Amino acid sequence: MQQIDISIDDIRALVAQLDSTADVSEESLRHAMLQGYVCFEKNTDGRIVGMGWIFPRQTLLRKQAVIEDMIVDESYRGKGLGEKILNSLLVWAREQGVEVVELTTNPKRIAANNLYKKVGFRLHETNHYLLKLS
Ligand SMILES: CC(C)(COP(=O)(O)OP(=O)(O)OC[C@H]1O[C@@H](n2cnc3c(N)ncnc32)[C@H](O)[C@@H]1OP(=O)(O)O)[C@@H](O)C(=O)NCCC(=O)NCCS
Repeated sequence: MQQIDISIDDIRALVAQLDSTADVSEESLRHAMLQGYVCFEKNTDGRIVGMGWIFPRQTLLRKQAVIEDMIVDESYRGKGLGEKILNSLLVWAREQGVEVVELTTNPKRIAANNLYKKVGFRLHETNHYLLKLS
């Protein structure tokens, strides 16, 4: 498992910028790190100001991976951090022998959509269904 000195408060502050209702626990963060790779970017003071998570998803057809929780702190956006984090996740995927990387994002998230297209993601037309069980 990756070893890194992380502050759960830094992570909570970041995640709140993606989903103000989300509650991140140390356990869920540990689980994410165990499942795959979480990339953290710190500022010069050591505060985590950007993150992204990738984890493998083996299908019957191929080894895939999913990217979630790409977030850069508002005051650090537009400086290349998001692209750096995304490329770091893709390096991990290649090292793991992943064939396809997938992610979803709301079309209204202009910066995120542009970032993903910039590094090579292409829109995959599909019907995405959700069934809420609780
Ligand atoms: C999406 C996000 C992670 C991008 O991080 P960032 O560090 O600001 O992005 P970068 O500075 O690395 O920019 C890389 C590319 O993203 C795109 N981009 C970034 N900010 C943009 C903006 N404000 N408008 C349009 N495109 C933008 C551009 O293509 C840019 O490349 P360029 O500088 O050559 O034009 C950041 O905006 C963010 O955290 N947004 C809120 C959370 C979110 O929407 N996460 C995605 C969930 S799926």
